[in-house]
Amino acid sequence: MSQTPVGIDGIELWSGKLRLDLPNTFAPVKDEDPEKYTKGLGVEHSSLPDVYEDIVTMGANAAKQLLDRKGLTPDDIGRIDVATESAFDNSKPVSTYIAGCLEEVYEDDFHHANKGERKFACVSGTQSIDDAYNWIRAGRNRGRAALVIATDTALYERGDPGEATQGAGAIAMLIDSDPDIVALSTEQGFGSADETDFLKPNQQFPSVDGKRSMQVYLARMREALEDYESIADDTHSDDFAYIPFHTPFPGMVRKAALLGFRHISRGTDVESALASEIGSQPRESEYVSREAYEEAIRGYMDELKETDTYREWYETAIDPTVNIARMVGNWYTGSVHIARLSTLMSAVDADRDLAGEKLLVASYGSGAQAEIHAETVQPGWREAIAPINVDTQLEARYDLSFDEYERVHDVHNHEKDTEIEAFTTPESEFVFTGWGRMSERR
Ligand code: HMG
Repeated sequence: MSQTPVGIDGIELWSGKLRLDLPNTFAPVKDEDPEKYTKGLGVEHSSLPDVYEDIVTMGANAAKQLLDRKGLTPDDIGRIDVATESAFDNSKPVSTYIAGCLEEVYEDDFHHANKGERKFACVSGTQSIDDAYNWIRAGRNRGRAALVIATDTALYERGDPGEATQGAGAIAMLIDSDPDIVALSTEQGFGSADETDFLKPNQQFPSVDGKRSMQVYLARMREALEDYESIADDTHSDDFAYIPFHTPFPGMVRKAALLGFRHISRGTDVESALASEIGSQPRESEYVSREAYEEAIRGYMDELKETDTYREWYETAIDPTVNIARMVGNWYTGSVHIARLSTLMSAVDADRDLAGEKLLVASYGSGAQAEIHAETVQPGWREAIAPINVDTQLEARYDLSFDEYERVHDVHNHEKDTEIEAFTTPESEFVFTGWGRMSERR
């Protein structure tokens, strides 16, 4: 007997209300070619928080939109998990602050709900969904749904190479049985190792070895793909309509997608069709050493990325996944969930019916861990996705000058005691009112 599906039943997003234009505002001050950002990293804008926004207000605003859209109240929610790597409290989880905000506007409260905070860099958003999935599958949810909120202010030290990949925002997701949007697979693949390329040990901004962080991302992703392939039935390129990857910047996804395609095209008609052009994929058993095999793989990948077959696949299965990331930057824990949303929104725009089709979702967090699982798009997906107002939010952002950007970056740097006027006006939303009282709705 088949199990009732469990997965994502609703999604809402809240973008930081400021925007930094990378090619036109950031590049000239850094004396860089704008194409380094638009073509190299693949980013146009970063979303940044206004002075009255933080991870709590953005998370609470996204969650309020989601509960309202679904017509839910606190009594319908049995669990609130927040994924973040921008937490400011080592004791109380951020979910308690967010629940406190929401309780100001609903008649009942969340006293019955299990609240927590998940940490493993960017992969913790996916881990929170996993926790919710397991809780529902175990039958401990008493008919209630779980609220998962991934919220971050992904800021780097000024002058750090990561500065061009900043972002801020929250994505709220409702996890439930019989979901409207996607059902999660039971199969998962993992690649996990103790790494030190991206750290925030008791510090606000990360210490990053950017180039190494990219190699670590690819190494863990390869392991997770191999682990997934060892147990799953659907592992071929034809099995998946799209592959949303964790997107620190779209240029990283270009590298990850090539790796992904090599794996999921292995042993398929696609590999056979490509063989006359670039040969078959090297198999490890054909080489005298691991080094020789890896060298052969690199040569194969260099040729693969120039083929029409790969380019067409990339345009269809990958390009739509980075549309939002290009306009908002890295939202850390929310990033792969933005990639899924971007995918589904572009399918709505293209009038493509995805019901029954599969996504292969590839999450990653520094430190480091990659996770792969499949999702099946559900019949109600289009009605659930079409009303999400991402474009309206992104168009409404205030466009910062470089000088304004530096001042607001200082406001969000807790080591500096800086106060400036807000650039935008709150409109019936939760706002940060200072340490102690924290936030209220204005
Ligand atoms: P950089 O060193 O300033 O940039 O920063 P670059 O010189 O390597 O250039 C970037 C790309 O632009 C290169 O492309 C250049 O060739 C190209 P590639 O060779 O890599 O394909 N380029 C140009 N293209 C066209 N026209 C031009 C031009 N100039 C250059 N004129 C770096 C790059 C990633 C190091 C930096 O942004 C950084 O440190 N970022 C933060 C770390 C990061 O995002 N790492 C990604 C993997 S780790 C991860 O995803 C986890 C994370 O999300 C955190 C977490 O999990 O918690 C970060």
